[in-house]
Amino acid sequence: MKVLLIDSNHPILQSGLEKLGCICEEDYFSTKQQIEEKISDYDGIVIRSRFNIDQQFLEKAANLKFIARVGAGLESIDVDYAEKMGIELISAPEGNRNAVGEHALGMILALFNNLKKADLEIRGGKWLREANRGIELDGRTVGIIGYGNMGKAFAKKLKGFEVEVICYDIKEGVGDENCKQVSLEELQEKTDVLSLHTPFNKLSHHMINAQFISNFKKPFYLINTARGSAVVTDDLVEALRNKKILGACLDVLEYEKLSFENLFENDSFPEAFDYLIQSENVLLSPHIAGWTVESKLKLAQTIVDKVDSLFFSKEVAETELKRVTGIGGLFFKSDDPAKLKEWYKKHLNFNVDDWGSTFWWKDNSGNPACTQWSIFKSDTVYFSPSTKDFMFNYRVEDLNLLLNKLKQEGVAVIGEIEEYDYGKFGWILDPEGNKIELWEPKDVAFLS
Ligand SMILES: NC(=O)c1ccc[n+]([C@@H]2O[C@H](COP(=O)([O-])OP(=O)(O)OC[C@H]3O[C@@H](n4cnc5c(N)ncnc54)[C@H](O)[C@@H]3O)[C@@H](O)[C@H]2O)c1
Repeated sequence: MKVLLIDSNHPILQSGLEKLGCICEEDYFSTKQQIEEKISDYDGIVIRSRFNIDQQFLEKAANLKFIARVGAGLESIDVDYAEKMGIELISAPEGNRNAVGEHALGMILALFNNLKKADLEIRGGKWLREANRGIELDGRTVGIIGYGNMGKAFAKKLKGFEVEVICYDIKEGVGDENCKQVSLEELQEKTDVLSLHTPFNKLSHHMINAQFISNFKKPFYLINTARGSAVVTDDLVEALRNKKILGACLDVLEYEKLSFENLFENDSFPEAFDYLIQSENVLLSPHIAGWTVESKLKLAQTIVDKVDSLFFSKEVAETELKRVTGIGGLFFKSDDPAKLKEWYKKHLNFNVDDWGSTFWWKDNSGNPACTQWSIFKSDTVYFSPSTKDFMFNYRVEDLNLLLNKLKQEGVAVIGEIEEYDYGKFGWILDPEGNKIELWEPKDVAFLS
């Protein structure tokens, strides 16, 4: 498989693809037209955001089997046309979602605590304490619009802050234990801090406009780490002027170029942008929410893993995939988990900890393996959309492969794969609506 890399990325991307057997060629400087002229020689192309992969480009790409975008959004690709051509589209939100979650949280905390302003003042010789009295997140309601990879990562970071986290999403059933899904009306009624995590699409384009802002019941703070085009900057500035929006954290701007590498062609700033850069209650960053040392590596590894599972491990999957290899967990609801856990400890000698109890055994190769037993509060949404009082977790050999296979077989897959030190998790529904957790375990993480 011959793959063209048109943007520089973490070296693990090229070495990982080469280990799979791909022949990689780098071309970071040719124009789009020059690349169009040779693209028919390649089976795959890896891009960040250098140029649009439009229909004209795709028509020349007769042999292309995949387009991998080292990032989350795919708006620079003509997705419909590529899919019509049978080209696999690969993105890597798993690689930068944690970075986005941390950045959104960092921005709002910096704004609430006047960190940028205070720092600049001290450098200018001013030591102003009362003028920099901060405000707290505690007790406030954070409203998230778009509850996918990025929205979920932000909600996860808010655990531990005493905040109510709610979300609005055009998809149903996306809420989880970190965030309650509500109607847009309820979000606009309750929100104190609004964070956008929608992709670029027709609905999200200019979504935050004067009318939308006026539908919020209370004045609120805005965080935008999604896309600049989601916000009408003139309307945002008007709302900042009349204090309906109390402050804004903007990692992305309406004026950005498609490549996200530049703001303006020349030095003439729109009036609204001028207002933003003069405002003390506005914090700006240059589209770097997903841009960390760690995400550079994780984005590259995610692309390699996905190319592997789509084109190289597929054959193995068809013949040798073991699917479920054991019971990974037994989870059920209780009105009083703490009390019930004590009962199991006293009468059945369960060795309980904060999470429940862990049972150790050996797999067929003699390796230590474990099964987790946990009690959840009766109002947990962790089992949703299932309404049952229990959920089982099954251990699997290769979660990516299995989920790809299950998708092909028409099984309902819920949400995206989540990865932790102790393994990867995915969720499906059986035909009776039971939610099943699938776990590709790393048991050793529990032993350390
Ligand atoms: N600033 C950065 O560095 C950075 C980094 C990564 C991602 N992003 C942005 O975040 C976006 C989201 O990424 P993701 O991986 O979470 O996407 P995702 O597809 O996992 O989730 C997006 C969610 O938004 C919902 N949605 C779509 N349009 C909506 C609308 N108009 N109103 C309400 N909900 C809507 C979808 O149903 C989905 O659940 C990306 O497309 C990109 O624009 C920015």
